[in-house]
Amino acid sequence: MSVAALAPAAPLSHPAAQALISPRGEGGSRAGPLAPVAERAQISAQLLRPQAAISPRYFYDQRGSELFEAITRLPEYYPTRTERAVLLRHARAIADTVGTPGVVIEPGAGSCAKALVLCRLLRARQYVGVDVSAGYLQDAVARLRTALPALDARAVGGDITAGIQLPPGIAERQRLVFYPGSSIGNFDPPAALALLRHMHALARGDAAGGAAGGGLLIGIDLPKDRAVLRAAYDDAAGVTAAFNRNALAHVNRLIGSDFAPQQWRHVALFNEADSRIEMHLAACGPQSVRWPGGGRDFAGGERIHTENSYKYPLPVFLDMLQRAGFHQPQAWTDERGWYALIHARA
Ligand code: AVJ
Repeated sequence: MSVAALAPAAPLSHPAAQALISPRGEGGSRAGPLAPVAERAQISAQLLRPQAAISPRYFYDQRGSELFEAITRLPEYYPTRTERAVLLRHARAIADTVGTPGVVIEPGAGSCAKALVLCRLLRARQYVGVDVSAGYLQDAVARLRTALPALDARAVGGDITAGIQLPPGIAERQRLVFYPGSSIGNFDPPAALALLRHMHALARGDAAGGAAGGGLLIGIDLPKDRAVLRAAYDDAAGVTAAFNRNALAHVNRLIGSDFAPQQWRHVALFNEADSRIEMHLAACGPQSVRWPGGGRDFAGGERIHTENSYKYPLPVFLDMLQRAGFHQPQAWTDERGWYALIHARA
C-alpha cells in the first residue's frame, strides 16, 4: 500500500512534504546569532562525552517541528492516531472524570491540535500553551483562537524542566495540566519523576498558594511488539531519518559547527533491558567536526545518541504518578492496549 493512500491530512507524495525531507537546505549554513554561551558550552560538552550526545530538544527548530508533524501522519507512527482514538473512544468517561477545568495548561504544546479537541470536549474557558519553539507555538495558538473564539488562549515560550512562568490572570482553581503525545517518554525514570513533581506543583498552583481541584491528563506509549516499535521510529519514507539528521543542522546554527548532516545515518533500535527506543546518528565514514572553541573527530560508524523514547508499562507509570504526589489515577486505552491516557488528581 502506498504511503499516500494511508496518510490522511497531507500525503507524503505532496510536493511540500517531499521538500521537507529533501537534503537541499540542510546543513544550517544560514547566518544568525549563535546560542548563548552557557547553552553552547552545554551542547559542546555533550558532543565531547565518550558517548557523544545531542539532547532531543534540539530536534525542534522550525523545520524540525514541521518534520515532527509529518511523522505524526506516517502510517508507521501509531502513537498520535492511537491517542486520538483513545480520546474519542472514551470521550464521555474522560469528560465526566476530569470535569470542567478553570484552565488547561499544556507543556510542549506544539501544533495545539490536541488542545482543540480537549478544550472543546471539556468546555475549557482558558488555555495556556507552553513550548520551546515559541514562533511555531504563536501561530498554533492563533489558529486555536480562531477555531474556539470563546477560549482565552495564551502562548508562553519556555521549557517546563526549567519551570514555567505563567502570565497574569490565569485561573488558580481546577487547573488541568495536559501532557499528551507520550512526551514523558523522552525522560529517563528519575527525570520523568522530577517532571511529574513539577506538573503536580503546577496543577495545584503551589506558586500561588495552592488551590483545589487540579489534575493531570497525560498520554503514555505502552510496551508492545518490537517490530511495531522499530517501524514507528524508522519509517519507509525516511521522514524520521530527516528529523534525526535535522538536529545536526540545528546544532550547526547554535554552536557554529560544521556537521555535514548527509554524512550521518539514522539508527533506531529497541533497548529491551531499559524498555526504550533509542535514536542515534552513525557517521558514514570518518568525520572531522569543528566549532568555535572545540571539535571532535568521529570514526566511521561512531554514533551520536539523540533520543530515548521510554515505553513505560502501565503499573510502573501509575507507581511514578503516586510517588509524584498524584492520586486516584484512571487509565483509558485503545483496544490493542498500545497506548494509555491517564487522569490523576493533584
Ligand atoms: C515527541 C517524544 C513523543 O518519542 O515518539 C518521534 C518523538 N522521535 N519519532 C516519540 C519522536 C522520533 C516522540 N515524542
